[in-house]
Amino acid sequence: MHGWVGHNVYGAELERVLLDSAAIDRRVRELGDSISRDYAGRELLAVGILKGALIFLADLVRRLTVPVAIDFVAVGSYGAGTESSGAVRILKDLEQDIAGRHVLLVEDIVDTGLTLNYLLEIFRARAPASLRVCVLLDKPERRRVPVPIDYCGFVIPDEFVVGYGLDYNERYRHLADIVVLRREVYRGSSV
Ligand code: IMP
Repeated sequence: MHGWVGHNVYGAELERVLLDSAAIDRRVRELGDSISRDYAGRELLAVGILKGALIFLADLVRRLTVPVAIDFVAVGSYGAGTESSGAVRILKDLEQDIAGRHVLLVEDIVDTGLTLNYLLEIFRARAPASLRVCVLLDKPERRRVPVPIDYCGFVIPDEFVVGYGLDYNERYRHLADIVVLRREVYRGSSV
């Protein structure tokens, strides 16, 4: 297996590279191209869901050829560990008014769908001109509520992944690759 940034420090908890940085980079470019084409002539508001979407959003907006403003929202659904409690709430709301704007919600991963479903309901009520969803990763096996995904980077199997913004207990977000966390790390743990 090839190494990754942080390998020497964290290697024991990480199983294998699922998507390396070159593959991510290629896909982000393609997503940027599609979004730029679809929004041609319009101005976009990209809304990143903190903290996981931070790195994806940063790379994605640099591939856009349409004017884009950026805002962030923070939600609480996952605490520590890998299982969602099912309850979602806004911890930090948008700073900008989205009424009449073309809003693109940017998320790192859709798992149960509860987070995006909740945010879409709230944002729809604020009357944006349009509201679309862009996710880097989709884990469809775990879906509990359907979510309309307009732009998807990769469909992945039901494994817990870290890196490229995704964390396990706030660790590994800085990895350049997307890496599978060993099941033993979170299975049977109290978090
Ligand atoms: P959902 O509400 O279940 O769709 O969960 C979405 C959130 O769960 C994501 O924004 C992530 O923060 C977290 N999440 C789900 N699966 C993973 C994973 O494999 N690695 C890291 N975080 C994950």
